[in-house]
Amino acid sequence: MNIIRAIDHEDMACKAANLIAAQVLIKPKSILGLATGSTPLGVYARLILKQRAAEVSFAAVKSVNLDEYCGIAASDETSYRYYMNHNLFDQIDIDPANTYLPDGMAADFDAECARYDHVIEELGGVDLQLLGIGMNGHIGFNEPCDHFKMGTHCVQLTQSTREANAIYFSRGMEDMPSFALTMGMRPIMQAKRVLLVAGANKKEVIAQALEGPVTPRVPASILQLHPRLTVVYCEQ
Ligand code: PGA
Repeated sequence: MNIIRAIDHEDMACKAANLIAAQVLIKPKSILGLATGSTPLGVYARLILKQRAAEVSFAAVKSVNLDEYCGIAASDETSYRYYMNHNLFDQIDIDPANTYLPDGMAADFDAECARYDHVIEELGGVDLQLLGIGMNGHIGFNEPCDHFKMGTHCVQLTQSTREANAIYFSRGMEDMPSFALTMGMRPIMQAKRVLLVAGANKKEVIAQALEGPVTPRVPASILQLHPRLTVVYCEQ
């Protein structure tokens, strides 16, 4: 495990963006596993600047995102598809057809989960997986539970996750979805490299995840078993 300490949020975003850009420079056809939430926003802003400055190109990159809310249409600005388009894809030279997210509007979630696992498999797995971490230790929407779930699955979001993310919905908890589709642990653990970014507000959960027992009660703790984990952690 490689822990990189950042002095502030900007430094964290800069360090993480440098690692992602380096991955794409070394392998232009990289498969990037991407994440949503507030923490990666600065990372994406820096990647956009790097692409505009022709320091890196995403023209040959393909991406798979971790998760999507159930029942939220891609066109809705609270969907993760909208987030990704708005905060990254529309502003870089990636081919939109090469960007994948689970479909939260699918009629059959079991079939959609199987389809998404197949998409990841067909891509040949993830080269670099970017992750944030929830206050409860979730990665993607792999919420604390009794066992690590390996494949893409439909998950009931915990109260803590719903409360944390309700701020993005105009009517707060009233509009906040209760279910989501999330990539499971298999593609994350099989990713060649994992890059976890966390702000100072995640201090306690980062300590639990990286220094405590490996347990599905703290889903990110499984990352202790990943051979190439880099954590960019911001101390303030
Ligand atoms: P945040 O979310 O970056 O908005 O804190 C991270 C997560 O829940 O995975």
